[in-house]
Amino acid sequence: MPGAKITALGCHVPPGVLTNQDLEKLVDTNNQWILDRTGIVERHIAAPDVATSDMAVAAARCVLAQRGIRASEIDCIIVCTVTPDMMFPSTACLVQHQIGAAGAWGFDLVAACSGFIYGLTTGASLVMAGTHKKVLVIGADTMSRIIDYTDRSTCILFGDAAGAMLIEPAAEGEGFMGFLNEVDGSGAEALKMPAGGSRMPASADTVARRMHFVKQEGQQVFKFAVRKMYETCRGLLDKHGLTAKDVKLMIPHQANLRIIKATAERLGMSEDQVVINIERYGNTTAATVPLATRDAIESGRLKKGDVVIFAAVGAGFTVGTNLWRWAY
Ligand code: UT7
Repeated sequence: MPGAKITALGCHVPPGVLTNQDLEKLVDTNNQWILDRTGIVERHIAAPDVATSDMAVAAARCVLAQRGIRASEIDCIIVCTVTPDMMFPSTACLVQHQIGAAGAWGFDLVAACSGFIYGLTTGASLVMAGTHKKVLVIGADTMSRIIDYTDRSTCILFGDAAGAMLIEPAAEGEGFMGFLNEVDGSGAEALKMPAGGSRMPASADTVARRMHFVKQEGQQVFKFAVRKMYETCRGLLDKHGLTAKDVKLMIPHQANLRIIKATAERLGMSEDQVVINIERYGNTTAATVPLATRDAIESGRLKKGDVVIFAAVGAGFTVGTNLWRWAY
């Protein structure tokens, strides 16, 4: 069976910045509370005329330029998002058209903060099946469109961004090593956007009751995330006969600095094994993992041959953990 490796990475971060001080003017919060409880200093917010497909296209174009390929060479586009441009058609269709990926099929993948890791698992599987040569996985979310900026418990957390990676065939021992993904739907109520679907279609009443915004039971999600990020990382390492010392970097979903630190500590990983950039971007949902990977590459912390573990917990609950040997 052929392997699968990541051969290029591109990101798009919108220029607009929302600082903790800006949020102090919107809700009853303060810089110190946000820093202490989350580690976030600022997040980027898309301009009103920018939608998820626009950021996804920008990230996709970075990947194409970096790899030096034409869009027509892409076989499949997977857009991981919970903030599609619209309910349908999928954002993947809009991206396919915009970049001119004439030979590609594609679809949206809904797994919230674990989305990009599910996308990587799916993309690697398509390549390893031998049926695909170039799969473009994009994580893109315009969270600011579904955040209630009168709710201090959620509005401080999220930002907007997109990131993309290209997956291609690899020799044995290169690239994708394995995954441990799970869902636990018993946690569905803890983090959701209640209205706008078939259960609670949009109406004047759902708008008046602010049901088209993210609702979160913060502590419940926090406890689940700390437990599951650790358990699945541990489980995946054990499955491959690896210890934390064999991993060059853990690249975790950036939801809360305390969740990341607790996970690293329980795994016995030192600070220099963990990538953290939550202070600059907040939680960008499906885009955090590619954004953090880009930062690790640019700062010289991630090099060819290094073993990385990607890990995330998100709404659903979804849990995603992947092991990759970095290939470029
Ligand atoms: O990526 C998707 C997955 N999502 C996550 O992983 C998020 C997981 N959860 C969290 O990160 C944390 O639960 C939060 C950051 C959302 C909240 O932190 P916490 O330490 O769990 O705070 P809390 O909800 O227990 O609230 C503590 C206090 C409360 O006041 P009282 O009841 O003690 O008087 C809150 O009302 O802090 C209050 N509070 C705030 N105070 C100032 C809540 N939000 C704020 C705020 N500024 N923005």
